[in-house]
Amino acid sequence: MADLDQLETETLARIADAADLPALDAARVAALGKQGSVSALLKTLGGMTPVQRQAEGPRINGLRERVAAAVAERKEALEAAALNVRLATERLDMTLPLAASPRGTVHPVSQVMDELAEVFADLGFAVATGPEIEDDWHNFTALNIPESHPARAMHDTFYFGDSPTGGEQSSPSDGGSAAASRPKRMLLRTHTSPVQVRAMTSQPPPLRVIAPGRVYRSDSDATHTPMFHQIEGLVIDRGIHLGHLKWTLETFLRAFFERDDVVLRLRPSYFPFTEPSVEVDVGYSVENGRRVIGGAEGWMEVLGSGMVHPKVLRECGLDPDEWQGFAFGTGIDRLAMLKYGMDDLRAFFDGDLRWLRHYGFAALDVPTLSGGLSS
Ligand code: PHE
Repeated sequence: MADLDQLETETLARIADAADLPALDAARVAALGKQGSVSALLKTLGGMTPVQRQAEGPRINGLRERVAAAVAERKEALEAAALNVRLATERLDMTLPLAASPRGTVHPVSQVMDELAEVFADLGFAVATGPEIEDDWHNFTALNIPESHPARAMHDTFYFGDSPTGGEQSSPSDGGSAAASRPKRMLLRTHTSPVQVRAMTSQPPPLRVIAPGRVYRSDSDATHTPMFHQIEGLVIDRGIHLGHLKWTLETFLRAFFERDDVVLRLRPSYFPFTEPSVEVDVGYSVENGRRVIGGAEGWMEVLGSGMVHPKVLRECGLDPDEWQGFAFGTGIDRLAMLKYGMDDLRAFFDGDLRWLRHYGFAALDVPTLSGGLSS
């Protein structure tokens, strides 16, 4: 029967051409479904004579079997192809890096703190820390700033609890149970200098420490924020004099600004906890309309410093006839601004990602003296 052969050719072609599983199913239903062409042929067997049925039965059934086999075969091929596509798209290449580059950056303040720690570690300084919530005695009294001292007003202190008034406090050197008699009026430390006191009262001299950290003052404009960062330096040893201070600061600033032409100018000044006190200016020159550190076309104040006051040494239990020392303190944010050319301090603490991407540092670029501080 010619039309049986033709039906087979067409049906098998449709099955072979089915591009996906729904198309294949449509071809199957068209041939083998209830209303399908092959099913219709099978139904004709019932109306045939036994002789006819004997001849046609095997032909029609054979057709049904070949069509069913072709459907199964095509189905398997389509499913295998679909699996291959999925495997290809869902493949996870474990040898690829997780991300092309990290999206976060190291904040310039953290970067500069790391740079400072690196510079001073090379000079034999350890890093010391102290609490940001400090007591009155460590922040003021032990630093020769008694209750009535005008410097207290200058510090714009954030106090906890009641009014900042109260009697003059006793100190450890008054003898006996020093810690017990220490007043506990708390404040946010206004400078890192209380860490000097903590270092001197917790470790025996000689001492060489730096103390970077957050400090707080009630002050806010383009160059002041209520929270900012300082770094304190303290050296206690025998026979220490102003020459040691000057050499240390010069060496530090040359290493930090990565220039050999950094020039310092020391001016007499006043801090209650140092005697004599010196303010340190650093020379700058103007390159392409911008001030850069180095040379001596002009001067910028960068540091407060001096020889540790004998009263402070005594307050911390050291004999000033045996031990001398120098201390210095400076703003980390300001050092960062001078080195990396930012001009608004407030942007440091806005958390603006665009600013951080512009001024931030690569996470894996740890500053080292040998590898470069700021490379
Ligand atoms: N603590 C001073 C300030 O905050 C800086 C300073 C530190 C000065 C150490 C002298 C010695 O201004």
